[in-house]
Amino acid sequence: MDIFRIEGGVKLKGTVRLSGSKNATLPIMAAAILAPGTSVIKGAPELSDIAVLMKLLSKLGATVERNAAGDLQIDTTVINNPVGEYNIVRKMRASICILGPLLARCGKAKISMPGGCAIGDRPVDIHLRGLRELGADIHLKNGYIIAQAKNGLKGRKIFLGGPFGSTVLGTANILMAAVLAKGRTVIESAACEPEIADLANCLNKMGAKVSGIGSPRLVIEGVSSLAAIEYQVIGDRIEAGTFMVAAGVTSGEIRIENCRVDDMAAVADRLLKIGTTVEPLDNGCVVKSNGKIAPADITTQPYPGFPTDLQAQFMTLLSLADGNSVITEKIFPDRFMHVAELNRMAASLRKEGPSVIIAGVKNLVAAPVMASDLRASAALVLAGLAAQGTTVINRVYHIDRGYENIEEKLNALGAKITRKSI
Ligand code: EPU
Repeated sequence: MDIFRIEGGVKLKGTVRLSGSKNATLPIMAAAILAPGTSVIKGAPELSDIAVLMKLLSKLGATVERNAAGDLQIDTTVINNPVGEYNIVRKMRASICILGPLLARCGKAKISMPGGCAIGDRPVDIHLRGLRELGADIHLKNGYIIAQAKNGLKGRKIFLGGPFGSTVLGTANILMAAVLAKGRTVIESAACEPEIADLANCLNKMGAKVSGIGSPRLVIEGVSSLAAIEYQVIGDRIEAGTFMVAAGVTSGEIRIENCRVDDMAAVADRLLKIGTTVEPLDNGCVVKSNGKIAPADITTQPYPGFPTDLQAQFMTLLSLADGNSVITEKIFPDRFMHVAELNRMAASLRKEGPSVIIAGVKNLVAAPVMASDLRASAALVLAGLAAQGTTVINRVYHIDRGYENIEEKLNALGAKITRKSI
């Protein structure tokens, strides 16, 4: 198991290039199932979550490898075992995104039902409802989702909203099932996240007919087959937001490349209020702190609202604000595992239902802390960068799920982070 040792208190300065988006790459890898042949995903980051899906796809019968350029190459000429085993799915819930493509390609699938995780219950009822509406017969047996579409899938109008708004991977699943269904599917209350738009653009490049991309109403005219293609994934906007906060907590200035600032309006808006400006450039931006941290209120929402995947990192930033802030979590109301760890570093955070009340403190104090999930661990790294002294973060395998070479990227900006195996 690895730990990070962070010597805090250094102003970060310099240029960082973002990796490809994890949450765009995962469904795009699953989309390769839809097109027999070899798909190439350029910019797919080297992360443990990506490795889990590579393994899952190879168990289905595909050949999955990195080519000499480091791109992901997925040969799905053979898909002869449409099964997502518990032992793999339990490592990553996003494995559920193979369900729609497998139903479309093989007419059947058996996938372990994902359980809850550190950020909440995370049901998949809306995925199953949507697939049933497309004509799939679905039941649960021994912890597995057993899905069949004996007579193929048929397009229709589907409402995909749930108690917390749209669902990102639910939209991905239904979209990927619908592209090969007979007739027209209309998805109302579709997720508008840039990662879903990237998936839809990729599907269209494969020969699908998806319109309304980026809006809550996706219209899909089914086609009979899709072609394997090369596709470049978008940069990771959550990684971008994490580096933006790194500039904010260290009074630094960071130029971020491979970043679509247009996808980050809600984040830039809150940063401006806090005292960190985001100046757009071609394919990137410069993020600059004014040396102060003003308090701000944040509510997470589906895109284009403020992303839940940056809630923990902004909590670190607002812990150091000159005044009180409130963060309200409207997507995963229990996603607050970082609160107790940040308090160990002398933050003053109080949880009240789905909100956290933050009384800003002058300094965070280094301490040994425990990473509990991906974004919570990013929040602790940011706290370590801001704190005086040496912070030790245990269980950094959580951060390796979603941040490619984070310590190397931060060290290139002046941070002092060492990784040790214990
Ligand atoms: N929900 C349901 N029923 C469903 C599906 C979702 O009630 O069938 C609820 C969820 O419990 C949650 C809300 O709907 O309250 C939204 O969840 P969503 O389905 O959108 O989440 P997801 O698709 O499972 C993706 C990202 C998450 C990100 C969320 C929200 C990937 C691989 N994962 O998850 O990313 O937090 O959307 O934006 O794309 C991360 O990268 O750290 C991460 C957790």
